[in-house]
Amino acid sequence: MTQEQTSPENPPWSTDLAQLFNVAWAVLLPQEINRRIDARLATLATIGADGAPEARGVVLRAADPARGTVDIFTDAATPKCAEIEADPRVALTLWREDMLVQIRLRGTMEVIEGAPAQEAWRGLPDRALPDYGVTPAPATPIPEALSYLRDPKAARLAILRLTAETLDVVSLQPPVHTRALFERRDGWRGQWRAP
Ligand SMILES: Cc1cc2nc3c(=O)[nH]c(=O)nc-3n(C[C@H](O)[C@H](O)[C@H](O)COP(=O)(O)O)c2cc1C
Repeated sequence: MTQEQTSPENPPWSTDLAQLFNVAWAVLLPQEINRRIDARLATLATIGADGAPEARGVVLRAADPARGTVDIFTDAATPKCAEIEADPRVALTLWREDMLVQIRLRGTMEVIEGAPAQEAWRGLPDRALPDYGVTPAPATPIPEALSYLRDPKAARLAILRLTAETLDVVSLQPPVHTRALFERRDGWRGQWRAP
């Protein structure tokens, strides 16, 4: 025996496909993300060199809802860049506790260096620059904890651009959870899913 959920008190955006889609992209946009690190922190999963998944925390930097893209900054020498060059399929997930919304994106990622990355470098605050240019390269074995140098290098900043193919959105807004899958291939029309 199944019983359908009814939700007169749910916020309207959590039970309307078009509104839920807009909320998802608003969450991914930097101006909505605001300065709080916990609101901008996502988990990026790639396919590792050995074929097994790899996941790590990253900060969202930009989003373009019209193109369906999300940007992250990284050090071009990190292993994830080589993984993405070898297999561009990635997944990104973000939990916004203040909105009780989880967003999961799947798609392909490109590593952008050169002029666009240099422009991004010029927009970074001084305190962020040492994140790009660790020697030896990130993940290299070192003899002691501090056996490395931080030497900021503009050429080491890379933009990782995720072009989303699907967006899986879960709302835990009370009283009734909702979930929808949006796909590029059907024009992001959206389809409700059991949560
Ligand atoms: C709070 C937090 C934010 C981070 N933000 C980024 C980021 O925006 N870009 C990035 O490349 N690494 C970021 N990192 C570091 C990554 O999680 C990871 O350790 C590093 O990029 C090396 O990953 P890889 O060896 O898989 O390439 C962040 C780590 C933490 C804890």
